[in-house]
Amino acid sequence: MKMTDANDDALKQQVREYWNAHPCGTQFTHLEWGSKQFFDEVERFRYETQPFMRKLMEFDNFRGRRLLEIGCGLGTDLLQFARGGAIATGVDLTPASIELVKKRFALEGIPVDARVADAENLPFPDASFDVVYSFGVLHHTPNTQKAIDEVYRVLKPGGRIIIMLYHKDSIHVFLGAPLYKISNKLRAGARSLVEDWVRVYDGAENPLGKAYSKSELRKMFWRFKDLNFAVCDPIRRKYPRLRPDPSQVPRCGQLAQSETPKPTVGILAGD
Ligand SMILES: C[S@@+](CC[C@H](N)C(=O)[O-])C[C@H]1O[C@@H](n2cnc3c(N)ncnc32)[C@H](O)[C@@H]1O
Repeated sequence: MKMTDANDDALKQQVREYWNAHPCGTQFTHLEWGSKQFFDEVERFRYETQPFMRKLMEFDNFRGRRLLEIGCGLGTDLLQFARGGAIATGVDLTPASIELVKKRFALEGIPVDARVADAENLPFPDASFDVVYSFGVLHHTPNTQKAIDEVYRVLKPGGRIIIMLYHKDSIHVFLGAPLYKISNKLRAGARSLVEDWVRVYDGAENPLGKAYSKSELRKMFWRFKDLNFAVCDPIRRKYPRLRPDPSQVPRCGQLAQSETPKPTVGILAGD
């Protein structure tokens, strides 16, 4: 095993332990994990504070399609796709999340294939899915390029990806990172100011977070064609009153999202 692989494995173990102890979304409610009220509250909070999501993700647009969510967390978005008729598969690095996803779909009476799996080594044959979705995940795995290559492999020709990654060239990073440094909380041995700031965005103990510019993403997603980017605004999450029209897809902020068919788009009929 190469040194870098060993380092990545050790870091990934920290990532797994962190998210297993803090399944994403549980931080926004004090209700008992796994109850119907808990899931309802997580869902309400998610789309109230990120109102652009329903419009941007088109949850109802994939009826009958095989959809994979990578890093599905509590399965809130996966459930929206499934309610819209998509055939849902969800993977996450952590057993805690996958257990909650199974509970949640069981409460709804909707079937799901939910598994513990690593984005960098997906347990699916080539060309398995019409749609691969991932929101705020691939920047938390040590080898993001490897995970993107896996997305390409499991996507059918003509398929679509919808992926959110943190956006480096954003007001949030320009202002937040220096302020964070001034507040003197920057860890010794930080990878970079931006990465340390982004890491903390998901909780002070989060071991890994990265952010990308559009040009970096174009290089990393070079095998996909027709990349579109939408930059979304997380500031409303903290200050909901700042944006009077929540139905609008915001134009500035921290998140980058891309959507693209595979290059062999002509092979798949009907897309
Ligand atoms: C910020 S949370 C996002 C969860 C969910 N997508 C959401 O938006 O609520 C990041 C998630 O990515 C998962 N994750 C991190 N690295 C992963 C990997 N290599 N493979 C699969 N999941 C991973 C974590 O376990 C965690 O559930």
